[in-house]
Order: sequence, then structure tokens, then C-alpha cells
Amino acid sequence: MVIYTIVLSLFLIFSLVVLFVITSAFLGFLLTRVPFVPTHASDIEFIVKKLGISSRDIFYDLGSGNGKVCFLVNKLSGAACVGYELTWWTHLLARIKLACRGGFRPSPTADKKFGITFKNQNFFKHPWTEATVIYGYLYPPLMGRVEEKFLKDCKPGSIAVIRDFPFPNLIPAEVCRMPKKHEVYIYRKRG
Ligand SMILES: C[S@@+](CC[C@H](N)C(=O)[O-])C[C@H]1O[C@@H](n2cnc3c(N)ncnc32)[C@H](O)[C@@H]1O
Repeated sequence: MVIYTIVLSLFLIFSLVVLFVITSAFLGFLLTRVPFVPTHASDIEFIVKKLGISSRDIFYDLGSGNGKVCFLVNKLSGAACVGYELTWWTHLLARIKLACRGGFRPSPTADKKFGITFKNQNFFKHPWTEATVIYGYLYPPLMGRVEEKFLKDCKPGSIAVIRDFPFPNLIPAEVCRMPKKHEVYIYRKRG
């Protein structure tokens, strides 16, 4: 009887957690209109090599999901990385992974080698002035606003790397096909 009660309680707790995560994911989607779909590691490696991202760069992932892009870019290049993510559960996964790597680093410029910061915030509400490279794997309805903010906030020479859904007006400096057959559009901010 005791074992039966324990098993039933564990099952109830598990079901509640699953329900909570599914509801949050759905609410996150309603909020952003962009589902969480991660970029493949080989495509991230391609971007780092193609752009020659280095420890001198400050890389922003607009909609960082579980943090995979920031972790890999930082590991491969030493660039400081900032990930903005509105959906709490993917943001939490990123924070847990970061904590397991040895703690939180509050400022991306404080220690470039380990400079990874995740913010559970809307990237439209923050300046991108510090970024030298921005990465966006988002959806077409957002791209006009992202383009506008890239032109307004980013310094001359900064690069926007946009996967699959290009900016509506700017002509890309280059369009590449990545290893997993997705297109990436590369834009350079002129002086
Ligand atoms: C297609 S996923 C890409 C995740 C990650 N960048 C990657 O490539 O692995 C897009 C993410 O952007 C987030 N997102 C969309 N609009 C956002 C906003 N305004 N502010 C912060 N995050 C946003 C979504 O919640 C979603 O997790």
C-alpha cells in the first residue's frame, strides 16, 4: 500500500512537471511566434570558420534557446557570447549547463575566454551596440524588425548571420549553404 502511494505520487509529480513544461513551451511559442528548433553543431562550426570568429568578437544569439550556439561558438573561438531567450524553460537549460561549466559570468567583456551570458529577455528591448556578430535563426515576420535594429544599433563592420529567413531589404554580402543544407545570409554593416 505504501509503495503504491509512493509510485502514484511520483507519477502525479512527473505528470505535473511534463504538463507544466508543455504549457510553458506553448505559451513561449504564443509569445514569440518562433518555435525552439536548435541549429546543428556542424552548421555552427561552419559559421565560426567562415567568419573567422575569434576571441576579439562579441557574439549575440538572438533567441538562444538551450544555449547550444553560444557554448559552441565560445568553445571554438573564445568569443564572448550573449544569448537572449524569452522562453523560460530553454533559458533555464542554458543556465543549468552554464552553471555546470563553472558558474555564471555576468559580463561578456569581463573574461572573454569564458564569457557566456544568458538573459531571459526580449532581444528587441536591449541595445546590440556591443555585438560584433549577431546570429538569428528566427521566422520571417520578425526579420524586418531585426534588420532595422541591426542597422540602428550595430557598429560599422558588424556582421549579421541570418539562417534560412533573410532580411527583407538588405542585400547580403554572401549567401552560403551550410553542411546541413540550410542557407545562411551574411550581412556586413557599412560605415
Ligand atoms: C529557432 S529557435 C533557435 C534557437 C538557437 N538560436 C539555435 O539556433 O539553436 C528561436 C528561438 O528564438 C526565441 N525568440 C523568438 N523571439 C524572441 C525575442 N523577441 N526575444 C528573445 N527570444 C526570442 C524563441 O523562443 C526560440 O527559442
